[in-house]
Amino acid sequence: RTVQWDPADSGKGGYPHYMLKEIHEQPDVIARTAFDRIDLGAGDVRFEGGGFDDAFCRSVERIQILGCGTALHAGQIAKYLIEGLAHIPVDVDFASEFRYRDPRIVPGTLALAITQSGETADTLAATRLARELGARVASICNVAGSSQVRESDATILTYAGPEIGVASTKAFTAQVAAATLLAIRLARGRGVMHEHKARQLLEEFRMIRPKIESLLTDEAIARTREIARKHAGARGFLFLGRGVNYPVALEGALKLKEIAYVHAEGYAAGEMKHGPIALIDPGMTILAINSVGHVAEKTRANIEQVKARGGVTVSVGSDDLSHSIADSAVPVPATDEWLSPILNSIPLQLIAYHIAEIHGCDIDKPRNLAKSVTVE
Ligand code: AGP
Repeated sequence: RTVQWDPADSGKGGYPHYMLKEIHEQPDVIARTAFDRIDLGAGDVRFEGGGFDDAFCRSVERIQILGCGTALHAGQIAKYLIEGLAHIPVDVDFASEFRYRDPRIVPGTLALAITQSGETADTLAATRLARELGARVASICNVAGSSQVRESDATILTYAGPEIGVASTKAFTAQVAAATLLAIRLARGRGVMHEHKARQLLEEFRMIRPKIESLLTDEAIARTREIARKHAGARGFLFLGRGVNYPVALEGALKLKEIAYVHAEGYAAGEMKHGPIALIDPGMTILAINSVGHVAEKTRANIEQVKARGGVTVSVGSDDLSHSIADSAVPVPATDEWLSPILNSIPLQLIAYHIAEIHGCDIDKPRNLAKSVTVE
């Protein structure tokens, strides 16, 4: 299927920046990327042209995910989803590392490239190498006629539409949505997920649109602007997350670095005590991404530890208990833990946007960055 792009869409549509416009497009983008592929009756996912059929899903022994930057973060989320739901071992690597080491590809490996543009030089080179080493190649990509799609045996298109802002927002959440569908299809195709369980998760997915919208109301935007105002002067930011929300922390930190030129690090919350805890003082803001789920209590303990050491905390997610202990809170609607990265990413995009605005940065064209890196 093709998506018709209205030329008027390439304007800012009344928003001061493309980035803000693209953040606001996410309810449509997620609906377009996911909903038509959900078959609630069968408790399954159907890709166009019957891609990723049962025989294909059963033939995959291992998955090697490759990408760069934000796309790699979507790949890290995909690892949690695919291992957790479809029980297939998954490795994730920076395309730029994979292509210059001596990687081992075992029989039955599927190389999965994740890329918005489909033209990123490192991702293309890494997937070519994976193919030379015997892997089949699939991709999650936003551009139908791109080199990456042409070179893939199977593709899941994200229907994010053109992304003009250099900092990726809607393409990222679309990649995560596509990865979620892929994980469910693999799980169903391999017979490791019961129809009933898949249906429950897919029903929850179908209910995500108003939840995304609730994060984009004037009131919700004002809340993130207020948090940005409060913390814009921080010396540095540490984003913490666990499980499927660990890569969300990485992505939140990347957004802040890219557009606001503020030093920010994303960290697996459990690693805090192995080093970054030494950084904590009243000049550091720690954003903990914590949604209700099997690791919520652990991340809550991290917030307590930061507070005890004089750090400033912001909690983002659906875990109300975290909100009650943190200095500031961005409540996010509850959903299935597997779907929480899509929702939790949105306030982080907005916080980065508002901090960049406060610092007077060129939000749509951050210094030194290109939209797609087609050369080394
Ligand atoms: C995103 O905000 C970045 N500007 C960048 O990390 C980007 O995600 C990366 O260069 C990969 O691009 P691609 O998705 O087009 O391959």
